[in-house]
Amino acid sequence: MSGIDELFEAAAVVRQSAYAPYSGFPVGAAVRAADGRLYLGCNVENAAYPAGSCAEQNAIGAMIAAGERRIVAIAVLAAGEKPVTPCGACRQRIREFGDGATMVHGGSIAGARRAWTLDELLPEAFGPDFLPDAAP
Ligand code: THU
Repeated sequence: MSGIDELFEAAAVVRQSAYAPYSGFPVGAAVRAADGRLYLGCNVENAAYPAGSCAEQNAIGAMIAAGERRIVAIAVLAAGEKPVTPCGACRQRIREFGDGATMVHGGSIAGARRAWTLDELLPEAFGPDFLPDAAP
């Protein structure tokens, strides 16, 4: 199995745990960190809608909680004909722990897939390098 297949397979498994009663749109995300390990997350909605969180956000949180700091690639999986792409806020969250070359893989459970670099999804991004005195 390719590394990308492994990412999507893990995203499909964690997607089954999504809590998405309001949108009916469960999402799974799998991060490949620099240590080679996978960190998973699903969306967790809330009756107070803005308090919900995205799958990517929760996968990144799991990576950080494990002590890792570097995203090599991320896969996001949801229903639909088109491969899902991370929302704007999650693009920024990926940028915090990745760079322009970080690979973002979008997939649909119907089988469509597409890959972008983060630079394609978030050109001219603001990132930690703009704050050199605030060493992360
Ligand atoms: N969602 C994600 O978790 N990731 C994405 O890339 C797109 C959107 C979630 C947020 C919300 O729970 C639901 O999908 C509908 O927007």
